[in-house]
Amino acid sequence: MNNRAEIMNDMAVHLKAPAHIPDRELQRFLDQVFDKYGYDFRNYSHASLRRRLRHRLMLSGIDDFGDLEAKTLKNRQFFNTILLDLSITTTEMFRDPAFFMAFRDEVVPVLKTYPSFKIWQAGCSTGQETYSLAILLQEEGILDRGLIYATDFNATALEQARRGVYPTELIKQYAAQFHRAGGKGPFSQYFTSRYDSVLMDKSLRRNIVFSEHNLATDGVFSEVQIVICRNVLIYFNRTLQDRALSIFHQSLGRRGFLCLGAKESLLLSSHRRDFEVVRENERIFRKKTG
Ligand SMILES: C[S@@+](CC[C@H](N)C(=O)[O-])C[C@H]1O[C@@H](n2cnc3c(N)ncnc32)[C@H](O)[C@@H]1O
Repeated sequence: MNNRAEIMNDMAVHLKAPAHIPDRELQRFLDQVFDKYGYDFRNYSHASLRRRLRHRLMLSGIDDFGDLEAKTLKNRQFFNTILLDLSITTTEMFRDPAFFMAFRDEVVPVLKTYPSFKIWQAGCSTGQETYSLAILLQEEGILDRGLIYATDFNATALEQARRGVYPTELIKQYAAQFHRAGGKGPFSQYFTSRYDSVLMDKSLRRNIVFSEHNLATDGVFSEVQIVICRNVLIYFNRTLQDRALSIFHQSLGRRGFLCLGAKESLLLSSHRRDFEVVRENERIFRKKTG
């Protein structure tokens, strides 16, 4: 094959639509990943897993799902790539500003009556949501009374969260969302600028503990007044959603608040009767007594 033909052939491999992944093969892959690495994706939404795996097939130029399975099981580094693919760590600061506004209106007044409080933020990804929360509590003058446990099962994302360094190019969007979320002062007071990145202020990190926790395999966390778990349950099937909601229910103290993502609901869950609705649109719920 000449050079040009080789290049064309290469492109064809990369551009070819990846094969369909039959349910049985997907199930076997998930079982083997669990056995070998202890990460349990068996109760994630198959539609979303399939999309991610097909994308990886395409990027790696692998035609056959069996080959991808073999490579994943043989090669730890490749598995780390798959883990990142399946985690979906998309996040923003003050994502869905209306949620943070509602949190100020409904949850903060209750927190102000407590001498101290704990918040568990599950699925914190690279930390943008955690710093948003810390900024909000700081503005309300109650950050020092609070402890935020920010957890995720993705160690790479957590490492980035601990560093608190974000690209400058995103700051304009984050600042706009901060103001739409009811933020008052200049957003720039919460970070220091470097060349093409910003470093979140150390004072925000003082009361944050970032740690690993897997909602599919780990248990109850610690008694907290608030659980925030946004845009995570959407990737789980009903069984895993119920597992996570059970852990949240048990972790919450009396009349604790549960905050979910914009596309997540308690409606179909077996826990719908354990919580009352505080704000329907912004997905803020409160644990019922008894
Ligand atoms: C789309 S991000 C949401 C981030 C943030 N909560 C937000 O709304 O912007 C989903 C996060 O959930 C985490 N996640 C997925 N499955 C998890 C599990 N079983 N246990 C803990 N975290 C999980 C992923 O690693 C990812 O960081």
